[in-house]
Amino acid sequence: MADSWVIMVTAQTPTNIAVIKYWGKRDEKLILPVNDSISVTLDPAHLCTTTTVAVSPSFAQDRMWLNGKEISLSGGRYQNCLREIRARACDVEDKERGIKISKKDWEKLHVHIASYNNFPTAAGLASSAAGFACLVFALAKLMNAKEDNSELSAIARQGSGSACRSLFGGFVKWKMGKVEDGSDSLAVQVVDEKHWDDLVIIIAVVSSRQKETSSTTGMRETVETSLLLQHRAKEIVPKRIVQMEESIKNRNFASFAHLTCADSNQFHAVCMDTCPPIFYMNDTSHRIISCVEKWNRSVGTPQVAYTFDAGPNAVLIAHNRKAAAQLLQKLLFYFPPNSDTELNSYVLGDKSILKDAG
Ligand code: ADP
Ligand code: DP6
Ligand code: CO
Repeated sequence: MADSWVIMVTAQTPTNIAVIKYWGKRDEKLILPVNDSISVTLDPAHLCTTTTVAVSPSFAQDRMWLNGKEISLSGGRYQNCLREIRARACDVEDKERGIKISKKDWEKLHVHIASYNNFPTAAGLASSAAGFACLVFALAKLMNAKEDNSELSAIARQGSGSACRSLFGGFVKWKMGKVEDGSDSLAVQVVDEKHWDDLVIIIAVVSSRQKETSSTTGMRETVETSLLLQHRAKEIVPKRIVQMEESIKNRNFASFAHLTCADSNQFHAVCMDTCPPIFYMNDTSHRIISCVEKWNRSVGTPQVAYTFDAGPNAVLIAHNRKAAAQLLQKLLFYFPPNSDTELNSYVLGDKSILKDAG
């Protein structure tokens, strides 16, 4: 092989936000969770990761750049993903350029990886989910791995737990699995993105600052110190998973909203039950919750569900376009532009809600 060639693959993967949260591992190394979780995959046009992976005989080592800055690949998570995909690499041939890479060559070849998030990194909007899903997907394409998305999800899981759910669109369940080697801890699609396309998701960015406690550290401390987590994982979540799947399949928004808000609140309660307590939400997050709760109560039936990941930013899921338009009006009124609590919003699902919502 001449040393001059480079083969590149670019992939784009959306992030996902859990409506029944994953928080706590039973195996840190394999990233196996203490409970099942369910998420909605967001519209890739708004929040996504774009990753380019390149291979060349002239590369002396594996290297990675995240948002333009070189990062170390020495952490176990990146190594796990690289190792697992390399083990599944197949022959690659580019006839036009006369390049042939055999299965065995992949053991010696090195890759360069450049990844960009078009939304805040490490701020509680699941950058690790989009990031590792995209990395695994791009590497699998480059190395011609034949695994399907469920099998790839079990590899992405070893980069970041939530990443396994970003290999599918729509609503996705991460089954915690039973076996020790983690091979059955993977993602399955509950319904595709067309099933419930009335929903409009609005992300209100309260702060794009990097969180003080990463999800990994936070959940480790919770597992070590919170009794509430054990009750949640064993008694509460299994029932909620069944109810949530039902609500999604039947497009029952009242039940969906009730479960989503309750699970977000319980997740943050579990963070408070950690020693020392972890605070991911701030005053603005709490005000958003109050605003939605008051509105839902005044109407009688829920119009909007809220959920917050490990950060202060709100993910608001509106029942339909009319509810989304009303929600945007309320957000603008209570959190006015150019004030201390100004929100930067991404509206996902329908670009024309303000014009069309009657
Ligand atoms: P978030 O709430 O954004 O998921 P986490 O604390 O879970 O925050 O994870 C943030 C970490 O995920 C980053 O420090 C980085 O290690 C990793 N990450 C973020 N984006 C990417 C990406 N595009 N590719 C690979 N890894 C990423
Ligand atoms: C609150 O997947 O980021 O977003 O597996 O340690 O990388 P690691 O953690 P991560 O945790 C996500 C936690 C959450 C809830 C969720 O996405 O289910
Ligand atoms: Co994360």
